Amino acid sequence: MAYPSPSSLRARLHSPVSAITAYDYPSARLCDEAGIQMILVGDSLGMVVAGHPDTTSVTLDHMVYHTEMVRRGVKRAVIVADLPIHSYETTEAAVASGHRLMEAGGDAVKLEGGLGQIKKVEALTEAGIAVCGHIGMLPQRVLEEGGYRKKGKLKEEAERLVMAAKSLEEAGAFALVLESMVAEVATRITEATGIPTIGIGAGEDCDGQIRVLHDVIGGYPWFVPPFAKVYGNTAEVTREAVSAYVEDVQRQNSAH
Ligand code: KIV
Repeated sequence: MAYPSPSSLRARLHSPVSAITAYDYPSARLCDEAGIQMILVGDSLGMVVAGHPDTTSVTLDHMVYHTEMVRRGVKRAVIVADLPIHSYETTEAAVASGHRLMEAGGDAVKLEGGLGQIKKVEALTEAGIAVCGHIGMLPQRVLEEGGYRKKGKLKEEAERLVMAAKSLEEAGAFALVLESMVAEVATRITEATGIPTIGIGAGEDCDGQIRVLHDVIGGYPWFVPPFAKVYGNTAEVTREAVSAYVEDVQRQNSAH
């Protein structure tokens, strides 16, 4: 069966693009019902679902499992599944891993990195697998880089980011995630490319924005990134509901 083409996916994304992560059936279904345009089965699940300090322990099997759950909950949104660390170290591995995520229900895959990933993006595109690029801060490299750092502050780094964005577009990427980079650099990339730029910590002038679901709904109160705006208080609602249930059980049992 043919997978969705990059052009058909682009046609489903209208500026301003609203995108969010989801990792399971209920969260994906709720996001889809709320009218989100793109759902990313992000490897951030290693942190906000599995409780690890970063995304580097997420495997392809984890991503396949969560992509299947998300697929069952989504009728409209474009589903992009993250290729996790170590699943695309060679061009052949990228294509084989890409097929697994597409068979699990992805409409496209996302991989991290710029100029070093062009051949893989071309190979995936040739294999009929649509690719979303991801440049700027790359969470899969957090250990190598020794922490999270905003990108594009130095002129050379900014130029490399713009060049990477253009090359990813030429290689066939249908959209680009711009993570944690100087806003002016994200604006330059948005102006220099014809595919949707979807920012997170990259200023307001991208073609759209993406956020981690748990940051939006207040579902992970132990760490909230500085750029996140919290719109809900799921953690509090959950604690209150479970406390009320605990009290109910105690009351019922002491009445016996
Ligand atoms: O895994 C993820 O959630 C992501 C977003 C931060 C863009 O890659």
